[in-house]
Amino acid sequence: MNRTVIYPGSFDPVTLGHLEVIRRASKLFDKVIVAVLINSAKTPTFSIEERMQLLTDAVAGLDNVEIAGFEGLLAAYCRQRGVNAIVKGLRAVSDFEYEFQMAIANKKLNPELETIFITADADAMYLSSSMVREIGSMGGDISNFVPACVHDRIVERLRKSSL
Ligand code: PNS
Repeated sequence: MNRTVIYPGSFDPVTLGHLEVIRRASKLFDKVIVAVLINSAKTPTFSIEERMQLLTDAVAGLDNVEIAGFEGLLAAYCRQRGVNAIVKGLRAVSDFEYEFQMAIANKKLNPELETIFITADADAMYLSSSMVREIGSMGGDISNFVPACVHDRIVERLRKSSL
């Protein structure tokens, strides 16, 4: 049986916390599709092309990981890709209510769909893309928060967007 899981998110931009979830999911599943939300109510700082390119570079070496963009409902995208598992990272209790709501809504929309939670690594408990954006745009050091291979590009981009 070929087990594929979808890891959805905004990834605006990718953090070490995201990468940790991808790495761990790639060991549990035959294939991981990292699905980057294209249309969001909030306007992302990084374009869809930038977010996908940063992710592509961050997962280099993980052969069973695909980076894809998706629009519309996640439940519909999972059905379209023939995938019935979603993986999400859980950092703190504060994530739980929102994630629990989404998991139930997705299952109502697509009863075949299971949501699996991976608990964040202790080092990633506090990490979020919005924190990276805020610290980076104010010139702070984000080297402990984002993958080293994409660090300079994220810094450069946040510096430009804050000018
Ligand atoms: O990284 P984020 O912003 O927490 O990711 C949120 C995401 C992309 C997983 C969520 O917004 C989503 O699934 N959006 C697609 C639209 C959808 O299906 N909405 C209903 C979810 S119950």
